[in-house]
Amino acid sequence: MYHAAIAGTGRAVPPTILTNAELEKIVDTSDEWIRTRTGIRERRKAGEGDVLSDYAVEASRQALEAGGLVPKDLDTILVATVTPDQPIPAMACLIQNKLGAKKAAAWDHNAGCSGWLYGLHVADALIQAGKAHNVLLIGAEFLTRLADYTDRATCILFGDGAGATLLKATRSDHGVLATTIRTDGAGASFICMPGAGSVYPPNRPETYEQRLGFIKMMGGETFKVAVRSMTDVCKQVLDESGFAASDVTWLLPHQANDRIITAVGDRLGIPSERCIVNIERYGNTSSATIPIALDEYVREGKIKKGDLILFTAFGAGLTWGAGLVRW
Ligand code: COA
Repeated sequence: MYHAAIAGTGRAVPPTILTNAELEKIVDTSDEWIRTRTGIRERRKAGEGDVLSDYAVEASRQALEAGGLVPKDLDTILVATVTPDQPIPAMACLIQNKLGAKKAAAWDHNAGCSGWLYGLHVADALIQAGKAHNVLLIGAEFLTRLADYTDRATCILFGDGAGATLLKATRSDHGVLATTIRTDGAGASFICMPGAGSVYPPNRPETYEQRLGFIKMMGGETFKVAVRSMTDVCKQVLDESGFAASDVTWLLPHQANDRIITAVGDRLGIPSERCIVNIERYGNTSSATIPIALDEYVREGKIKKGDLILFTAFGAGLTWGAGLVRW
């Protein structure tokens, strides 16, 4: 039976850097607080005229080239995003057109910061079912566009960027070994943006007046559930595939807070030198954190054939998940 293997990666981030020192001039915060509470030193910020789908296309071209395919080889494009270019149509359709991937069905999904992992789960299932062979999975966000720069508790966290992953069908012992995804809608208010949907449409005055079109987060509560939930699903995928944490070459978690990453690593017994962390340079780019970090480590030659990579993510929904991949 076929399953999915990661055949190529790519990333594109805006050139403009927003440092902690610059945020000190906007909200009542300090570089010291941000670094010690989150691990973030700087993040990327899209320019006024920048369009997210252009960044996603650039990342996708790199992933396709690395994987030896051209856009017309794609049968599926999955885009994980909470910040599409526009609500309708899906950003995946815009990307499909810009790439010229005429044979690919394309759609977006919103699983918050777990979006890339949800996409990995779906792509692997489609490939196993014989419904897809060459899948482009993109995580792309312009989170600074939804960050409230009057709320110091959230605006310091977010950054912009896009990562792409090419998944190919394989019968080899490489690729996706196990995935699991979970949801708890009872925690919907932990991380949310109440406005710009159908309850508070963008064209109603209260959406603007009550600042409902910005991301809101209950940070402390989210932190605790995130650590517990990611640890649980990591253990599940390891158990299901017959591996122990000591077999894992790299833990690649969603980059929301380096204290969360350390806590998950500690609970699993994976030391920090085997945890992939780049939050200090990009902040939280939601669904893009994992594919961006993966591409960095692949291109720097740190990830090698045969490595066992444990992915995990947690985000708005609440959503979370894990995946185990043999490189
Ligand atoms: N600068 C300075 N002080 C700040 C601040 C900032 N940017 N943001 C909050 N504070 C203050 C608070 O007002 C509070 O002050 P008080 O004690 O006087 O009330 C204090 O710092 C502690 O706030 P708290 O929210 O408890 O901080 P924290 O240690 O929980 O860190 C987060 C906040 C957001 C960094 C952290 O909770 C977090 O990362 N949460 C999880 C995020 C996550 O996983 N999201 C899921 C994916 S998106």
